[in-house]
This record gives sequence, structure tokens and C-alpha cells, in this order.
Amino acid sequence: MITFFKGEKVDETENDLSLDMENIPKHIAIIMDGNGRWAKKRKLPRTMGHKAGVETIRRILKEADKLGIKYMTLYAFSTENWKRPKEEVGALMKLLVQYLRQEINELHKNGVKINVLGDISMLPEECIIEIEKAKEKTNLNTGITMNIALNYGGRDEIIRGIKLLVEDAKNEKINLSDINEHMFENYLYTKGIPDPDIIIRPSGEQRLSNFLLWQCAYSEFWYSDICWPDFKEKDLHQAIYDFQHRDRRFGGIKK
Ligand code: IPE
Ligand code: IPE
Ligand code: MG
Repeated sequence: MITFFKGEKVDETENDLSLDMENIPKHIAIIMDGNGRWAKKRKLPRTMGHKAGVETIRRILKEADKLGIKYMTLYAFSTENWKRPKEEVGALMKLLVQYLRQEINELHKNGVKINVLGDISMLPEECIIEIEKAKEKTNLNTGITMNIALNYGGRDEIIRGIKLLVEDAKNEKINLSDINEHMFENYLYTKGIPDPDIIIRPSGEQRLSNFLLWQCAYSEFWYSDICWPDFKEKDLHQAIYDFQHRDRRFGGIKK
């Protein structure tokens, strides 16, 4: 049993890590990768890997909340994932609906706020309905925010932002001189959300795959060979531990 006290070093017995509870990242983003390979290794259909991946979401979100992380962004479906076979896309959409239907009461009870990044208008109608219901129900919650990136692409997000900005300029709501990095963030899906401190990618791949391109400017990257369905609480602890031992300089020099 682990107890966390604000401002104290905490021993995490399972992997013997001491996390500094004063320096817990605010925002962790995860590229939930490796479901297909996890299933293949077990001679199971890929969809079973996605199903197992949903179980990991349950556990990791709970742990993140317990640690005091305020935002967790989960890459669930990219703008490029439409290239996959129709059956796999359909199964992923069904899993999303099932997850929201089964979990919404529990999530709400725990104060989780659900938010979506991406253009969901392209999703099947039953997905849109469940997403809207979940967002509305949890809108006033003040616990951890779970951002689900769905039909999300970093480039798509930037182009969308530019279009909205040009529209505002045409309507004379903004001037050219108003445009800067800070104000542009209001045109992104992540408006009001701090940039991710860590981007975690399991499965052995070391690339962003079009995830949070604008927001990752100074994120710390953390890779692991573990496939997402095998990702455990101790792996999250390890990522946070490593983050706490990195030297973030933001272009400056070490103090
Ligand atoms: C990630 O697992 C889930 C989605 C992209 C929806 P993958 O399905 O990409 O798993 P691998 O990379 O084929 O193992
Ligand atoms: C990134 O994984 C997208 C999600 C995890 C949702 P992919 O499996 O689609 O990425 P690539 O194709 O290996 O780059
Ligand atoms: Mg993959």
C-alpha cells in the first residue's frame, strides 16, 4: 500500500522509486500504441489487443488521478488511422461507445472531466452521441481531465486553427499585430490546457505520428518497449521518476 503526502518523498515499493510529490507533472500525454502487436504475439485478433488496451486506460487513469496529475491526454484514433481495414475501424469505434457507456458513471463519481481533441463530426453517430453525453455530464467536474484524441492529427489541428484565425481576421475581430504564439493557442483543440510535460509512447516506436505537434515543443519524451496492454502503474511511475530527473532548460542554461 502506498500513501502519498504532499511535499514529501514517497517510496513506491513495487519498483522502489521515490517520487517527488511536489514535482508531479501537470499533463501527461500517451500514444497508446502496440495493441495489435500484443494481440499478434498471443495469436489473437487485433481487436482483442484494443480491448485489452481499454483495460489499461482504466488502470492508468486511476493511477494518474491518485498521483495528482491534472490532465491526461490519450491518443485513441489518429487522422491517419482511417487507412486501416473497415472492420478494425468499426471495432475501435464500438469499443469507444462501450467504454463510455460502461464507465461514465464511475468516471463522473470520481470527478473525471472528459474532453475530446479532434474532429468528431466524422465519427459514427452513436460515438458522437456518447461523447457529447459524457462531455456534458462531466463538464463541471474538477478532478483529472481526460482528453481523448479522436480523429486527431497535429497538422489537421494547426490548419483548423489557421482557418478559424483567418475567419476572425476577416470579421475584424483580430488584427495582424494581435497574432502571436500565445493567442494562437486559443485556436487549438487544447485551448486552456497546459502543454504536455511528458509524452509517453510504448510499443518500441520512437515517433510522434502526428500527435500534439504544436504542444510538444518542450515536452519530455519517454519511450518503452512494452505494448500498451501490458503498460502498468509501475511504468507510469518510472516515466514520472525519469521526468523528475531530467534537466528541463527551455533554451536557457542550467542553474
Ligand atoms: C494502437 O495500437 C491503437 C490505435 C492506433 C488505435 P496499434 O493498433 O497501432 O498496435 P500496433 O502498432 O499495430 O501494434
Ligand atoms: C498512433 O499509432 C496513433 C494512436 C496510437 C492512436 P499508429 O500505430 O497509428 O502510428 P504509426 O502508424 O505506427 O506511426
Ligand atoms: Mg501502432
